[in-house]
Amino acid sequence: MAIEKVGVVGCGLMGSGITQVCAQAGCSVLMREVSPELVEKGLRGIEKNLARMVEKGTLSAAERERALTRLLGTTRLDELKDCDLVIEAIVEQLPAKRELFSSLDSICGPQTIFASNTSSISITEMASATKRPGRFLGLHFFNPVPVMKLVEVIRTIATDAAVFDEMVEFGKRLGKTPVCTSDRPGFIVNRLLVPYLLDAVRALEEGVASIVDVDQSMKLGCGHPMGPLTLLDFVGLDTTYYIANVMFDEFKERRFAPPPLLKRMVLAGWNGRKAGRGFYDYSDPKNPKPIEL
Ligand SMILES: NC(=O)c1ccc[n+]([C@@H]2O[C@H](COP(=O)([O-])OP(=O)(O)OC[C@H]3O[C@@H](n4cnc5c(N)ncnc54)[C@H](O)[C@@H]3O)[C@@H](O)[C@H]2O)c1
Repeated sequence: MAIEKVGVVGCGLMGSGITQVCAQAGCSVLMREVSPELVEKGLRGIEKNLARMVEKGTLSAAERERALTRLLGTTRLDELKDCDLVIEAIVEQLPAKRELFSSLDSICGPQTIFASNTSSISITEMASATKRPGRFLGLHFFNPVPVMKLVEVIRTIATDAAVFDEMVEFGKRLGKTPVCTSDRPGFIVNRLLVPYLLDAVRALEEGVASIVDVDQSMKLGCGHPMGPLTLLDFVGLDTTYYIANVMFDEFKERRFAPPPLLKRMVLAGWNGRKAGRGFYDYSDPKNPKPIEL
């Protein structure tokens, strides 16, 4: 089955990037957000991003125009009924995702493939809210989606082999390198990355070093493109906190337990770049300043 029409649900950090790469790959994309304002904001963000790519010379003006003609936004879930594939990128909360997939299951035809971009939630638990576990899997993209080359393709014990193979091919069509993994919290990347990020917060909490020195150390000492606390601000502290909790619930290992400082920052709404404040203050976005703790 050729994937022609893709529905993307949620147009935040990840959904906007997923919408964009699907349109660039030649699919017609219908993006759904919860309010007209968020639909508008999402589409404007994608337009800006495509324009920036044209300025940088990584996309031609004609390619940008073609991608834009393939993009539509809606607040109505039922408009996704004839999509070949629906990719979900809403908040990282199981009840919200289950409710969404259960509604989509009654709206979409039996052929529609459902994929979640979750970072940590069990794909099987979401699939069980539908009557199509064979046509359900994870497609885990990375931020910023138009730039990052990886997509983790996640199979549950119930995912049809043909559907899985088709989604691996779809990942390639988006210009990504797919890796195959199974439905265990964190999959490959977050299984390894999240304990590292949490350890950076613990090091800060224990007074090992300052925010800037923790980040500099991993950049200059290990060749990472950015330090762990800057990366946490990019990913979102709320998202990381939620992922850590899911992984801790599953594995009951200390390395997955969110440190108290992370919890306090999330409770204060200091969720990173998107909130204007995390480990750095983004009042001047080009010149972030480490916060005082
Ligand atoms: N942030 C990352 O680096 C990253 C990386 C990979 C995967 N993810 C996963 O992607 C998902 C989205 O994360 P994000 O960082 O884009 O979050 P975000 O908070 O930036 O965006 C979520 C968006 O979903 C919308 N939304 C909520 N419920 C909705 C619904 N029922 N229908 C339509 N839209 C709805 C919200 O209005 C919001 O705009 C999460 O599952 C997260 O774990 C995040």
